[in-house]
Amino acid sequence: MKTIKTIEDMQLKQDELHKEQKSIGFVPTMGYLHDGHLALIKEARKENDIVVVSIFVNPLQFNQASDLEQYPRDFERDEKLLIEEGVDFVFYPSKEAMYPNPLSIDLSLNQRGDVLCGATRPGHFEGVLMVLTKLFNIVNPNRVYFGLKDAQQVAVVDSLINDFNFNIELVPVPTIRESDGLAMSSRNVNLSTYERQEAYKIYQALLKGQKLIKASNWTRQRVLDEVESFLKHTLSGEIDYVDCLTYPELTREITEKHDIIIAVAVKYQNARLIDNIILTPS
Ligand code: PAJ
Repeated sequence: MKTIKTIEDMQLKQDELHKEQKSIGFVPTMGYLHDGHLALIKEARKENDIVVVSIFVNPLQFNQASDLEQYPRDFERDEKLLIEEGVDFVFYPSKEAMYPNPLSIDLSLNQRGDVLCGATRPGHFEGVLMVLTKLFNIVNPNRVYFGLKDAQQVAVVDSLINDFNFNIELVPVPTIRESDGLAMSSRNVNLSTYERQEAYKIYQALLKGQKLIKASNWTRQRVLDEVESFLKHTLSGEIDYVDCLTYPELTREITEKHDIIIAVAVKYQNARLIDNIILTPS
């Protein structure tokens, strides 16, 4: 595996690979890799000649300085994992390389951005859109791999690719969980022992919502009440949001034609956790 640190070298390399007719699968990450990230990489490995992974903790998408400071980092450990997965290139740029000058353009979201994390983390998705626009132009991939753990991010990237005519196939990958059901996340290391012990109940709350939808006679409000009251009674963390929307449109007007997402965010002392379930009601 080769580590590439400059934008120029990454652009030269992808250009060379495309000239050789090689397909490029790209997995953007912020590092501190776990089995969730590795699932995306395995999928990319199956479907492409070349796999590129980026590791960049993007300051633009953190709306709280403390969250950015506490974000875990360990490049050496990540490098070893990437070699084991047979990754060809890791793109590991500095903050100065990615943002050398103050940006003169802002990206903002009309749809899909005013609910869930878009509503509770102002500026977050604008930062995600900015870094991904840059990364897509630098890496020029044929396919990109994103985890459904961040389902709103997948919906927003789908809009980005369509609105800006990126010639890229978006491949969503299901959420990878710990054995007790907790969705894997780089932020889980910032949970206290007590918080970690109870955090699996977030997924249990989602399963309760799913069960209600699979039975007949459910309403959006009943799902919200059920999930929220379970969380309130079983978690010490603070509920940031609970919502039930169409997916991927993320609207409240649910009909039998829509896929549905139930999504939750919970704030702990040093970590904010998100999780969701997407289902097709029968
Ligand atoms: P990061 O949180 O590092 O996640 C990188 C990718 O791994 C995302 O597509 C995310 O959805 C996926 N992922 C994380 N946990 C997962 C899990 N438990 N199961 C399946 N996939 C999982 O998401 C970001 O970084 C950033 O916003 C980024 C896209 C890199 C832009 O900065």
